[in-house]
Amino acid sequence: MLESYNLKMPHAVYGGVNAMDNITAIIRSTGAKKVAMFTDPGIEKTGLFALPEAAVKASGAEYYVLDDLKPEPTYMAVQKLIDDFKLQGADLIVACGGGSVMDAAKLASILVTDEYGVKELLDNPGMAKKCVPIVLIPTTAGTGAEVTPNAIVAVPEKELKVGIVNDNMIADYVILDARMIKNLPRKIAAATGVDALAHCIECYTSNKANPLSDTFALHGLDLIINNIIPACDDPEAMEAKNAMQVAAFYGGLAITASGTTGVHALSYPLGGKYHIAHGVSNAILLVPVMKFNEPVCRQRFADCYDRCAHDGSNCKTVEEKSAWIIRKLDEIVRHLEIPTSLQEFGVPASDLDGLVEAGMQVKRLLVNNMREITPADARSIYEQVL
Ligand SMILES: NC(=O)c1ccc[n+]([C@@H]2O[C@H](COP(=O)([O-])OP(=O)(O)OC[C@H]3O[C@@H](n4cnc5c(N)ncnc54)[C@H](O)[C@@H]3O)[C@@H](O)[C@H]2O)c1
Ligand SMILES: [Zn+2]
Repeated sequence: MLESYNLKMPHAVYGGVNAMDNITAIIRSTGAKKVAMFTDPGIEKTGLFALPEAAVKASGAEYYVLDDLKPEPTYMAVQKLIDDFKLQGADLIVACGGGSVMDAAKLASILVTDEYGVKELLDNPGMAKKCVPIVLIPTTAGTGAEVTPNAIVAVPEKELKVGIVNDNMIADYVILDARMIKNLPRKIAAATGVDALAHCIECYTSNKANPLSDTFALHGLDLIINNIIPACDDPEAMEAKNAMQVAAFYGGLAITASGTTGVHALSYPLGGKYHIAHGVSNAILLVPVMKFNEPVCRQRFADCYDRCAHDGSNCKTVEEKSAWIIRKLDEIVRHLEIPTSLQEFGVPASDLDGLVEAGMQVKRLLVNNMREITPADARSIYEQVL
């Protein structure tokens, strides 16, 4: 347990029925005259973008849309979007999308300068200051990016995804509107939901865990374990979907106060080199890394059981409780039909050395893992999922 810790939060969070309507009042209260709206073509295709757009329009502010963004973009693609943004200018950003859109918009909010760009922040993330206030509207449940100080970009030359962390990227306003995730396709709901699951259990078993992160990680874990399957399987299960939206937000808070660990660390090369979706690469590694961690995290897993098991199971010992949690994670990933190995992504065994080398570079997260992961351990974990 850390001796000192903190949790930095957005200025205001709006949730519940018609949360989107608050955007009009937010714009008026900030006095913004020109709004930059960030989204992506996938979200526009669903018609979801019309909701925040109508709320921005109702404020009377001038606005324009930046939507030229692919999922899990490279830092160069994000910089291109930011260059467009800098040309047009704005005094408020409203971003509606998954982690990819929100992260790009968060970087834009601290990069209204010609002195440096996304590339420079890869090595020196702390230098950027907040330039434009930002409203984040997640459409997946999810990355928790609406509440973290992190933005993740792909760095092709390193064959890695890299997390840029800067407190100035913490959103000013967050809108958790259930309509955004109501019709999330099952495959996206499953992968992004398991990402949130990984955030909660990793933060709870992190070297940086503390009373604040524990509160959100455990509550988020309880909500996810008991809602992710109906939320993904049943289009009408609105209660379960709402629980997932809030739980993903809690996962983000847990990351902000603590930090993810071995799953996310070893997952970054899978996203960077093979373009495996973030939630899927975490799902592949979740159980192998948690099994690896079990010898040192057993008591923490048992706490998770005490909080999350509502199925009438009657585990008594720490060992039984810990095993129940790991079994549950495995059941969830399998039930949701997320890949559990790299087979379908065509990763040859000859890439193993490179994977290990890339994974071991993610020191920012490896240091959080309660059981040290050596290069030999990383190799053994990757071998299990090849
Ligand atoms: N900043 C953070 O703290 C943080 C945390 C975890 C992950 N991430 C990053 O976030 C990115 C992944 O974000 P993501 O998992 O939310 O997915 P995403 O933003 O990459 O979106 C994936 C696809 O889903 C579509 N989509 C999104 N919402 C939809 C909806 N409601 N209905 C239909 N389609 C929808 C998008 O158009 C896109 O094609 C990765 O780059 C990852 O590294 C960031
Ligand atoms: Zn994640």
